[in-house]
Amino acid sequence: MKNELQKIKEEVINKISKIKKEIDINNLEIKYLGRKGELTKILRNLKNLGEEQKKEMGRLGNQIKKEIRKEIERKKEDISGYFSSRDIDVSLPGVKAEIGHLNPLTIVQNELEELFTSMGFMILDGPELESDYYCFEALNIPKNHPARDMQDTFYIDKKNKEGDYDLVMRTHTSPVQVRAMQKYGAPFRGVVPGRAFRNEAVDACHEHSFFQIECLFIDEDISVANLKAVVREMLSKIFEKDVTIRIRPGFFPFVEPGLEVDMSCTICGGRGCPSCKNTGWLEMGGAGMIHPNVLRAGKIDPEKYSGFAFGFGWDRLAMMKFGISDIRLFQSNNLKFLNQF
Ligand code: PHE
Repeated sequence: MKNELQKIKEEVINKISKIKKEIDINNLEIKYLGRKGELTKILRNLKNLGEEQKKEMGRLGNQIKKEIRKEIERKKEDISGYFSSRDIDVSLPGVKAEIGHLNPLTIVQNELEELFTSMGFMILDGPELESDYYCFEALNIPKNHPARDMQDTFYIDKKNKEGDYDLVMRTHTSPVQVRAMQKYGAPFRGVVPGRAFRNEAVDACHEHSFFQIECLFIDEDISVANLKAVVREMLSKIFEKDVTIRIRPGFFPFVEPGLEVDMSCTICGGRGCPSCKNTGWLEMGGAGMIHPNVLRAGKIDPEKYSGFAFGFGWDRLAMMKFGISDIRLFQSNNLKFLNQF
């Protein structure tokens, strides 16, 4: 009996090694291990043996059955071409899938949008090719006003019916202020992260196409205190710590009073370094209480409502957050730069 079992085992293993087709291995499985299979038959006949022998042969038979089954499975895997566990070396280091990286500007944008949405602000968008009206006139900057020279505007070389050049690349995100007021009325809370354009000489701190985030908050009894609170909240969120801000008087025709907001330099901690030109402070942007003329242009009653607005350099925020020293890197498409974020 023992011999018979060993013989079957050798026979089967030998046969398996020659098999090349799935159907053959299936047939072999049935022939030996099936319900009426040869090995099954032998094992079934064990009941006719004496106690001792039954035990011994039973053990041997089951072991042989297991070995055959293993060989069959192995063959099946070989035929189907799948990787089996024996082909996998779990100790090999994995191959990292290449995934893209977010531009640091996008990282800051996502954080800002999350924060402002959580404070009940809308996220707005506006045209980059803007009319002279929304970019200047509605913001209390009439034609020939000297304040137009504050920003080096790209005018579009196309006259309207009246013979005026009335299209510009927006020089700031502020035109969306009046668009938002006209569309949504008061009370209103919103932010506009967007691109702006100025005819600047490009260097490490200046780009002709740069990014701003405009914030607009209109309600009854809004004051500079609200402005300060929101600015501080925003900067703390981005820099993940309390940030000291400083507010100075500034001039922008669309706000009264107009303010300039500085933030203590995160790179040197306020002691003074090349990034902050040794002053310890960085200019983040303009702000102020919305001028009544601008509220009126937005069809909002300045007697009833007041509001604040600010427009900060969004690329400057990202530069400070990540310690980036050259503004041109953001739009350089340089993978060595982008892969770091
Ligand atoms: N739009 C101004 C600029 O880009 C900044 C600003 C926004 C100032 C809102 C006041 C209020 O220079």
